Amino acid sequence: MTDKIDKWLRNGPEAVLRKAALREGYRVLDFGCKQGRYAIPAARIVGDSGLVYAVDKDKQGLREVKRQADKEGLRNINTVHVAQYGAIPIRAGTIDVILIYDVLHGGYFPEKAQRDNLLRKVHTLLRPGGVLSCCLTHLRQFGWTYKETLAEITDAGFRLRRQFRPTLVHENKLVRVRIFQFTKPG
Ligand SMILES: C[S@@+](CC[C@H](N)C(=O)[O-])C[C@H]1O[C@@H](n2cnc3c(N)ncnc32)[C@H](O)[C@@H]1O
Repeated sequence: MTDKIDKWLRNGPEAVLRKAALREGYRVLDFGCKQGRYAIPAARIVGDSGLVYAVDKDKQGLREVKRQADKEGLRNINTVHVAQYGAIPIRAGTIDVILIYDVLHGGYFPEKAQRDNLLRKVHTLLRPGGVLSCCLTHLRQFGWTYKETLAEITDAGFRLRRQFRPTLVHENKLVRVRIFQFTKPG
């Protein structure tokens, strides 16, 4: 790992998450959290009065989230294992911010019905006025366009508020990405 990537990993994810509207006391769901690159800093931001649900279909990733949380003494992370395209066992309307970073693409969700199903589920979990933060990656690789992808998300009931373009680590490289911020109308 290069020094630059190492340096970014120390503070970069937290800075991105603050821009993505995370605040102390929030309940956050990180869908497709993998090893917790965002779930762990999210837990630091929301603090003891908040809660992070780290959700993935990959048990190995969730074990790593748990290991890191224990190492840092973070008791505000619940790891949630889900079946691929299965239910997400969290109470409806209770989440302030949902992260879907580097997950919503043709590698994991090739069929529109699978994407619609995910978007419907996260829409239900979010509280009115809550934020869906989506880092869209691999679009060109799967022949998708931003326009079509954003339309699928807004068709599921979200309203696009803004985008920002941070540099972050993706596939072991520092790259500039687009993060789109949606709200669930209240
Ligand atoms: C490329 S990683 C992104 C990890 C993290 N969000 C990040 O940006 O560093 C994608 C993760 O999404 C998870 N994932 C993909 N499809 C999923 C599904 N249908 N249900 C739950 N998790 C899924 C994978 O297991 C993997 O851990």
